[in-house]
Amino acid sequence: MGDINIGILGCGTVGTGVAKLLMENSDIINARVGSKLHLKYVADIDTKTDRGITFEKGVFIDDAAKLINDPDIDIVVETIGGEGIAKKLMLDAINNGKHVVTANKALLAKHGNEVLGAAAENGVDLAYEASVGGCMPIIKSIRESLVGNRIESMTGILNGTCNYILSKITDDGSEFETALKGAQKNGYAEADPTLDIEGFDTAHKLAILISLAYGMNINLDDIYVEGVTKITPMDIDLASQFGYKIKLLAISKNLEDAVEARVHPTMIPCNNLLSNVNGSLNAITVTGDAVGDMMLYGHGAGMMPTASAIISDIADIARNLKHNATGRIPLLSFQQKKIKSIPILPIDETRTNYYFRFFVKDQPGVLSRIAGVLGNNDISIQSVHQKGRKSGGSVPIVMLTHKAKEASVKIAMAEIEVLDIVSDKPMLIRIEDEI
Ligand code: HSE
Repeated sequence: MGDINIGILGCGTVGTGVAKLLMENSDIINARVGSKLHLKYVADIDTKTDRGITFEKGVFIDDAAKLINDPDIDIVVETIGGEGIAKKLMLDAINNGKHVVTANKALLAKHGNEVLGAAAENGVDLAYEASVGGCMPIIKSIRESLVGNRIESMTGILNGTCNYILSKITDDGSEFETALKGAQKNGYAEADPTLDIEGFDTAHKLAILISLAYGMNINLDDIYVEGVTKITPMDIDLASQFGYKIKLLAISKNLEDAVEARVHPTMIPCNNLLSNVNGSLNAITVTGDAVGDMMLYGHGAGMMPTASAIISDIADIARNLKHNATGRIPLLSFQQKKIKSIPILPIDETRTNYYFRFFVKDQPGVLSRIAGVLGNNDISIQSVHQKGRKSGGSVPIVMLTHKAKEASVKIAMAEIEVLDIVSDKPMLIRIEDEI
């Protein structure tokens, strides 16, 4: 095998980073891969804006079809993002027998079964390390390094925007909107930041991970998703008084005949390593029956960290091509015929500890009425905290519970919300003490 010809679709932040890294570190990459990786085309509708790169003549084009239909192109790198044109071009490339590398988590989470199925049918590699956790090699870890393990659980901070916002509110007392603007300015946030702050981006990543870890079809629809928009500085402050930090976590547990998979703000003990992952950084803990706990930490977004992950995929494919070993690693970690349809446990069946915050009238009997509702719903209180005292006004009461069933909690919250002593919608945050 001679040179490996590469075409990049999309020259935004990530595509530019990939081109830069391929050009700047070509010596070291080629020396490791054993073939020359040649950037033949970069296609984008905008070829006018300066990307800070000097491409050789004829490399930077505005015609994606030319790239995809060029018989010399071996690997197509999709860095357009989204699900429209990116999906079409990816499928066209696969059907043309090209190997594909992508960072497109939304596309894989929603259409992964179709796109990966097309890759398997066409006998091409489709690699997606950069889709989850930016530079952290979590996909390679699950597909290769942990192949001997039964994976028991995974817990991750997988969205830099949310982690940045929560860190800014916690550490600097920033307002939510100001912190979000900071994340947008720094380039972590999605084009539509709702995907970040409402938890969907994290869910896309979790959908990919649970499929790889547990050998199941990609199933985004059944993952419970809750974002960070309802978290207030008061809750962050109260959490810290109880020894907790609030993080947006992707949580999964292997229950053998089902999988727990949920994304929501979570209170975790301050001494948990994940509590100390701040700013835009990502981290994930994977627990395997042989390895015990294993953790990865690094930049989950940004031009060069994402490019680093994409180059690792390009190198894997190039090495496979050199040794005629395409398909050596199954696309979804398990052999295709061993992938099962494992159900995701409905959130109502989940049992965890809870933090409740109620705004109530500061008058006799309030606590017993709330405690009564909780008791009637089989929810046991672990501790109670009342902050401040306001004559005639409302005060926050915080309760931490022992493990309770989510369905019972929902019923209790609905009953408490309509009590005449309660002046605002109750706040509920799940607590994970043992992750
Ligand atoms: N919007 C994502 C984040 C980018 O904030 O982490 C990386 O997937």
